[in-house]
Amino acid sequence: MNEELFDHFEALTFDDVLVVPGWSEVLPAEVQTTTVLGGIELRTPLISAAMDTVTEAPLAISLAREGGVGVLHRNLSIEDQADQVDRVKRAQSGMIDRPISLHPGATLADAEELMGRNKISGVPICDPDGRLVGILTNRDVRFCGEGEFDRKVSDFMTSEGLVTAPVGTSLDEAKQLLHRHRIEKLPLVDEAGRLRGLITVKDIMKRIQKPDATLDPRGRLRVGAAIGVTDVAQRAEALIGAEVDFLVIDTAHGHTRGVIDAVAIIKKGWPEVPVIGGNVVTREGVDALVEAGADMVKVGVGAGSICTTRVVAGAGMPQMSAIFECARAAREHLVADGEGNARPVPIIADGGVVSSGDIVKAFVAGADAVMVGNALAGVDEAPGDLELVDGAMWKTYRGMGSAGAMRGRAADRYGTAQEASGGAKHVAEGVEARVRYAGALSELVSQLTGGLRSGMGYAGAATLDDLHHRTRLVRITGAGLRESHPHDVDVLRD
Ligand code: XMP
Repeated sequence: MNEELFDHFEALTFDDVLVVPGWSEVLPAEVQTTTVLGGIELRTPLISAAMDTVTEAPLAISLAREGGVGVLHRNLSIEDQADQVDRVKRAQSGMIDRPISLHPGATLADAEELMGRNKISGVPICDPDGRLVGILTNRDVRFCGEGEFDRKVSDFMTSEGLVTAPVGTSLDEAKQLLHRHRIEKLPLVDEAGRLRGLITVKDIMKRIQKPDATLDPRGRLRVGAAIGVTDVAQRAEALIGAEVDFLVIDTAHGHTRGVIDAVAIIKKGWPEVPVIGGNVVTREGVDALVEAGADMVKVGVGAGSICTTRVVAGAGMPQMSAIFECARAAREHLVADGEGNARPVPIIADGGVVSSGDIVKAFVAGADAVMVGNALAGVDEAPGDLELVDGAMWKTYRGMGSAGAMRGRAADRYGTAQEASGGAKHVAEGVEARVRYAGALSELVSQLTGGLRSGMGYAGAATLDDLHHRTRLVRITGAGLRESHPHDVDVLRD
């Protein structure tokens, strides 16, 4: 019998509390929502869940453009997941330093296939020594007839008067050259005329349109990827080879030998790659992950909207208390933030967020960023199928522990496989569901960050740090919760 069994008996979640409005001199439009995670700055502190109905390359690209970051799910072969990383990294660039090129003897059919597969509108043509000899763009082949596709690209490429610039040309100089010559692509070449990079109008425009995007030092969008506990080294190697920005050990229970070992394997092999360990909900869980080398810790067990872990296993922790306890533990593990300050290991609150108010509360409890599945699953960029039901549009959203998802490769997330005569059987810890179709991600993210800004205004918090340190919460009753939502009216539109 554990004599202390009931000592820490009560834990709270989002709906149990409200932020107490405090003295405020800040306007929502002026607050700073920037957070720094393992050296990665996010101007929008949102991370998309590593779920197969949430984060593949299209959503990761859109979210990074809005200042957040996506974590690519792992219900994919190693090659396919690495390919998804590559797609995000190629979606936008300051300078493309390894441009895709073709040789002059390639056929138009080769060029068409290459441009279609990589979604690019032109390709530099280089001789076998890598020297730039021309450029082939959509314009050069627009009116090609059926029979011409086995002809050589050298017959169609532009080679006279090619505008190039030397290696080291800045984006501003490139912008001027692109404008002066009314061209779309500027190849960068070394003294020997070898192709060393490419700057495109499209990339420059993307930077101007989305100034808050989450970019790596080479101007590419940042992206994370999930990893399990079974193929750690091989998956990590492929993802890091594709230049992923950080890895997430994606499991339902992170205070386990398997997860601790996975963190240690990655940090031993690739100490420079930031790793998020998880999920945990206790002080001991945070300590164990950080001691194994995790740079950040993800918090939440059973809070997700599609989770049945608490029903099936009877285990979990209401999310506000989990964040608070883990953030308190993180304060005892200081890391350098890159600006010479020592800061607690960042805490990522994962699961249970259904409204922007929950995001505000997660920060007040001590989170440094929030991971969302449900709140993003309905957007155009999410992979789920669109369905029309009774005149309303929905998108599929399923737990990674649901029976459907566990037929894929993420089954080790739950460690519930039991050898049966017909093979491994799993106990589902999630449901297959659907959420309301929500339109474009950018619109939805601006609603969520608008709510966060508004909450910061009520709290009088100019930064997320202020939300952590200066804000009070009040516990509410069932009657308070009822009062918090629209009541005693027939809601016509929300
Ligand atoms: P939301 O509330 O945003 O939560 O839908 C997303 C998070 O839920 C976790 N997750 C699961 N948890 N069974 C679980 O117990 C599942 O099938 C499942 N699938 C996802 C995960 O942490 C995700 O980020």
